[in-house]
Amino acid sequence: MKKFIYIFFILAATVLYCADKVEDITLKSCVTFNTLCSKCHEGECSGRLAFNEGSEKSTYHIKRYAENDDISNNEIKEFFTLLNFMKKECLLFMPEDINYNQHKLESFATTTFKEYFIPLGVLKKGNYSISIRTKEDVSFRMELISKHFDSYLDITIYESIKKKEFEFKIGKDTNYFLRIKSKKPLYFDILEINKVSTK
Ligand code: HEC
Repeated sequence: MKKFIYIFFILAATVLYCADKVEDITLKSCVTFNTLCSKCHEGECSGRLAFNEGSEKSTYHIKRYAENDDISNNEIKEFFTLLNFMKKECLLFMPEDINYNQHKLESFATTTFKEYFIPLGVLKKGNYSISIRTKEDVSFRMELISKHFDSYLDITIYESIKKKEFEFKIGKDTNYFLRIKSKKPLYFDILEINKVSTK
């Protein structure tokens, strides 16, 4: 019995160690996970960890949905860590020190430029406006979500809409993200978020 308990602790420690390395994950894997995998895996807060990291089945599954056949073993590991983090912490993960203001928008795009996951940092309670100008006329879906998966905006912007300016209201000081999905590659001239002053 003693031996059994000992083995159990070693196993638990190994699993926890793997799941804790979320800080080392590349921005690209985070962006892919939060756009392409989130469709089905978002908000899975079961606490149950994913185990079959090296199996052929999960490798095929990940390659297929990441739309990337050349995915490395290391990247597959990163996806497992991200999924485990979400299941355990019930939060979205993006590297904390990376913020939209200091980085080019391309850093937050998937390889096909059809999806973006843009960290807006901590937004304080209040009203905001978002202005967008795309390089070409393309329709796309835009969501604003908090790191707790609360949705604040979920709109489809059709290519015929010329003036792309929207307002939204934030009720809680926390981290927010913009998720953008398009059927065609999408490039921006402008993507600006401003606090609307209420007098
Ligand atoms: C169309 C829906 C869908 C998409 C998109 C999707 N998955 Fe899955 N995934 C599933 C289902 C269903 C299962 C099996 C049930 C489960 O364990 O959640 C699964 C299982 C998994 C597992 C094994 C979980 C375990 O507990 O062992 C991993 C890892 C995984 N997916 C990662 C990913 C990654 C990474 C992406 C994006 C590149 C992705 N999935 C995209 C539906 C999807």
